[in-house]
Amino acid sequence: MVKLTGKSKVRTAVFISGTGSNLKNLIEFSLLKKSPIKIKFVVSSKKEVKGLNFSKKYKILSRVYEYKDKKKTEKKILKDLNKKRINLICLAGFMKILSNNFIKSFNGKILNIHPSLLPKYKGLKTHERAIKNNEKYSGCTVHFVNSKLDSGRIILQKKVKIRKIDTPKSLAKKILIQEHRLYPRAILKIFNP
Ligand code: GRF
Repeated sequence: MVKLTGKSKVRTAVFISGTGSNLKNLIEFSLLKKSPIKIKFVVSSKKEVKGLNFSKKYKILSRVYEYKDKKKTEKKILKDLNKKRINLICLAGFMKILSNNFIKSFNGKILNIHPSLLPKYKGLKTHERAIKNNEKYSGCTVHFVNSKLDSGRIILQKKVKIRKIDTPKSLAKKILIQEHRLYPRAILKIFNP
C-alpha cells in the first residue's frame, strides 16, 4: 500500500503514449488542495503526442523514451525516476508493457486505468469486444499494476451502460468521461482508505 509521509504530497510520474486526456485530468486534480499527489514528471513512449502539450502547458518536466531496447529504456526511465525522487507512477494510456523487474522496483506504487470492467476484457479493443459480446455494461477500472497484464488489485470501478446504438467510438467517449472521475477518486481512496 502506498503511504503518505508527513504532509507533503507524493511525487508522482504519469506515463502516457497518446492523447493524454487522463494526464490533463490528473494534473488538474493534483493542483487541488485535497490532492495527495503532485505530478513532477511525465514519461512518454512516443514523441510529438498530444499529451505532451499538457506537460508543457503546466510546466511539468517530460521526457520521451524511444523504446528501441526495452531493457535499456526501462533502466533509463528508472534512473530518471530515482533522480526525480518519484514515489508513485500513474499509467494513463501507456502502451508499453512494463517488465517484472521494473514493476518490482516500484512494488505497490504503480496504478493503471483500464477501459473495461476488469477482469473482463483485459488488453486492447475493449469496447469492440464488449459490444460484440452483447454486454449490457462496460466501464472502467483503476487498479494496482502487477506482473500480469491488467490483473492487479482493483481499487475502483465504474459501470457504464451500453446502448443498442453505441459504437466502439461512442462507448469509448462515454467511458472516458467516467475515467476522468474515477482516477482521482481512486487516488484519494488509496491515500485515505
Ligand atoms: C484510456 O481509455 C485509458 O483507459 C486507456 O487508454 C486511454 C488513454 O486515453 N488505458 P488518454 O490518452 O488518457 O486520453
